[in-house]
Amino acid sequence: MFTSAAFFALLLTITFAKPVRRDLAVHESRENIPSGFVKEGPASRDTVLGLHVGLFSNDMNGLEKALYDVSTPSSPLYGKHLSKAEACTSIIVEEYVKPKEDSTTAVLDWFKSNNITTTKDTPAGDWLSFSIPVSQANELFDADFTTFTHQSTGKQAIRTLSYSIPQSLQGHIELIRPTVSFPTPKAPVFQVPRPVHANVSAASCSGGITPACLQSLYGIPTTSTSQSSNKIGVSGFIDQYANEADLTTFLQQFRPDLPSSTTFTLETVDGGTNPQDPSQAGTEANLDIQYTVGVASGVPVVFISVGDGGDGFYDITTYLLGMDSPPQVVTTSYGETESDVSIAEANKLCNNYMQLGAQGVSILFASGDSGVGGSNDASCSAFVPTFPSGCPYMASVGATTGTGPETGASFSSGGFSNYWGIPDYQASAVSSYLSTLGSTDSGLFNASGRAYPDVAAQGYDVEIIVGGSAGYVAGTSCSSPIFASIIGLLNDELIAAGKSPLGFLNPLLYSTAASAFTDITSGDNPGCNTNGFPAASGWDPVTGLGTPNYAALRTAVGL
Ligand SMILES: *[C@@H]1O[C@H](CO)[C@@H](O)[C@H](O)[C@H]1NC(C)=O
Ligand SMILES: *[C@@H]1O[C@H](CO)[C@@H](O)[C@H](O)[C@H]1NC(C)=O
Ligand SMILES: *[C@@H]1O[C@H](CO)[C@@H](O)[C@H](O)[C@H]1NC(C)=O
Repeated sequence: MFTSAAFFALLLTITFAKPVRRDLAVHESRENIPSGFVKEGPASRDTVLGLHVGLFSNDMNGLEKALYDVSTPSSPLYGKHLSKAEACTSIIVEEYVKPKEDSTTAVLDWFKSNNITTTKDTPAGDWLSFSIPVSQANELFDADFTTFTHQSTGKQAIRTLSYSIPQSLQGHIELIRPTVSFPTPKAPVFQVPRPVHANVSAASCSGGITPACLQSLYGIPTTSTSQSSNKIGVSGFIDQYANEADLTTFLQQFRPDLPSSTTFTLETVDGGTNPQDPSQAGTEANLDIQYTVGVASGVPVVFISVGDGGDGFYDITTYLLGMDSPPQVVTTSYGETESDVSIAEANKLCNNYMQLGAQGVSILFASGDSGVGGSNDASCSAFVPTFPSGCPYMASVGATTGTGPETGASFSSGGFSNYWGIPDYQASAVSSYLSTLGSTDSGLFNASGRAYPDVAAQGYDVEIIVGGSAGYVAGTSCSSPIFASIIGLLNDELIAAGKSPLGFLNPLLYSTAASAFTDITSGDNPGCNTNGFPAASGWDPVTGLGTPNYAALRTAVGL
């Protein structure tokens, strides 16, 4: 039997095509389409969207504390990394990351009542995935899924500028993606026009940057390592393929002391591949592989090729979190503009790096190649932070050039995040820099944000082999794999000595290891019609703490 109120409500529902959903609340929105994208029109109603819902974890503050406990050299728990749920141990990452039971119940019940099946993306269950047509997604989340084209690549993406969630799920749902973020991974690498004269004995670096030059400059050991459980992961995105024949040629020319058959293994995510036709050899992927296999002598290297189908940065972390023994170091030479990623999405991804760090994985990213400008146009009215360098749980690597002495490279991105506040480990180093800086660049950056890069390494005139030919490249893309190799070599020695790998690096870098870097005090990183930040003595936002000195780092890590 209808009560009159119910009858009236029924009439209303029939009368209005799109009833006002009073139970919905806007959850995330963005005002503008990020630069570089154009709007094509509404996404086809029948297109099935693969969506992911992130639930709030029950205790990320607890995990953050645990991360610092195992990563801070002065802590009694230093090096006692947390394990995955499968292991028999009292401290497991998933206890912190899993959602509260009432969150899981509320979210699952809501999906069930809408006849939507979800599957767990992560062992902790803080991510669920589901697939629904655009029409249903627009209705359920009061969204307007639209097709956008990324102009420079021609790639299309379906996004909405706003979405809502039921009010009853606020506090349970952290975010839904892909929705308001427009991630466009860029590989910060560019060619340097320069006549090639490969010189295997160029320990002086005068003929360009080669493994021999780096060994001499940073004191990197040349002997092969011994620990097969030690690994460096190299991530590959945007159809960048690592060519094995080019690696062989590279080793023959630049590391004749290593077996030229030394190679890497392949893992794939989101249908990633690694075709070997010479015409498909990627400059970025070859650089990253040649400066890990060719510098971290004997350390097993795994190339993780991520396909275009998914959400690259997320999917690779989910993949790593699901591995029983993830590589102890993962280097990524791709980045985005911080503001292109929503704060909720950026934060949840950053928390994945926190989880990996707690398990003993060192996450390294190139800081970016546009100085303080973020992208290559100079129209910025404030400095443009890169992503994920602002995340406090990873190490961001900037670039230097020259060897007598090294100077900050003008393209080396660095600055201050607008999303994350300054972490304790760098507070004193950054405050010294800011007092030296005075009023320079005042108003153009967020002085209370997490500052980056953390460290630097050579990034200009780096010699690589692509498609059978030698050439020179530049970018912080060079610096991150070089630094990753050094961490991989230190991990090998630590594991051989029965010690833990280094894991999350930053508390170590800014404390006992701070003096194990060569301080780079010249250079700057112009952008936005300014000179950017000047390098200075101590930490600076062009070269971080400086470039590595292997012997000093060995001592700093207790070898
Ligand atoms: C869910 O499916 C059942 C059975 O097919 C149907 O009766 C119900 O109306 C559906 N609910 C929604 C919200 O689509
Ligand atoms: C090769 O390196 C050696 C030693 O650094 C140097 O003397 C020589 O000039 C270099 N040759 C070329 C072609 O760069
Ligand atoms: C500056 O950084 C702080 C700390 O992360 C943040 O709370 C604030 O919103 C940022 N300011 C701007 C204008 O983005």
